[in-house]
Amino acid sequence: MLDIERRDFFDVIGSRRSVRYFKPWKPVEPEKLEAVLQAARIASHMGNANAVQAIVFTDKETKEKLKPVVSTFNVAIIDMAPVILIWFIERDAWYKEIADHLIELYHVGAVNPSHGWSAEFIDKSARPRLTSFPTEAVDFMLSCESGMAMAQAQLTAVALGLGVCSFAGVGPKISEVFGLPDHCRFVWGMAIGYPAEDPLTGGQRKRKPFEKIFSRGKYGNPMHSDPKAVEMLKQLNMLQGEAHLTPQRLEEINAISKMMGLPERTD
Ligand SMILES: Cc1cc2nc3c(=O)[nH]c(=O)nc-3n(C[C@H](O)[C@H](O)[C@H](O)COP(=O)(O)O)c2cc1C
Repeated sequence: MLDIERRDFFDVIGSRRSVRYFKPWKPVEPEKLEAVLQAARIASHMGNANAVQAIVFTDKETKEKLKPVVSTFNVAIIDMAPVILIWFIERDAWYKEIADHLIELYHVGAVNPSHGWSAEFIDKSARPRLTSFPTEAVDFMLSCESGMAMAQAQLTAVALGLGVCSFAGVGPKISEVFGLPDHCRFVWGMAIGYPAEDPLTGGQRKRKPFEKIFSRGKYGNPMHSDPKAVEMLKQLNMLQGEAHLTPQRLEEINAISKMMGLPERTD
């Protein structure tokens, strides 16, 4: 069994970056890959719908089929990453199975009469209501569910010393390449491998200020962050310094690009 070095939760959250340079020669151990997938499997799911799925592959031949149906800036990522995941949602899990999953939640005491749940309510009220939602609404909700699963997968990869980058692609064409049936919809791709760049990439990528993102009580009423809490989160390594294009970072990017036969940065 692999000897996994346990990492602190706050440090993992703070050390996650989108890694875009991987060591193609270093495969991901099967146990680590399974850990990443299991993390997605046990993520929170709407009504426990279990509608998120992924196709997993490592071979060059499938990569070649994928490359023409992703944005051009994702091709190098796919070339370098030893593992690719194609995340998709399965609408049938919602329309055909959600009521059964809710009943299971009822049977294990997760949802209870204290909150208005009963087997009859699930069967006579929740089932017809949930299964009457239009596909656009279901896709929207399940995209959120897939985001939760992907986030858990990504953080687990980071905890295991791996790097991850999500990537977009042309949905219908990706469905064609991977044979997804009509009731399934591609969400995002994910590249995983050992980072060839410093996994901390010179700092956390800039975000909008806290008060521009969070409002207190109503829209547009900025909520302010607490300097003491910020200091605590810095101590925990969850908040880290912001990334800049330093001469060292530029040198790193160009050295890796050169090694991988990719264009170097000259601006
Ligand atoms: C759903 C999703 C899709 C993304 N798609 C791409 C992509 O197609 N190509 C890419 O290079 N990065 C992609 N990213 C990574 C973002 O660009 C990245 O998260 C953002 O620049 C912030 O950097 P950080 O992840 O290192 O904090 C995606 C991220 C998310 C969450």
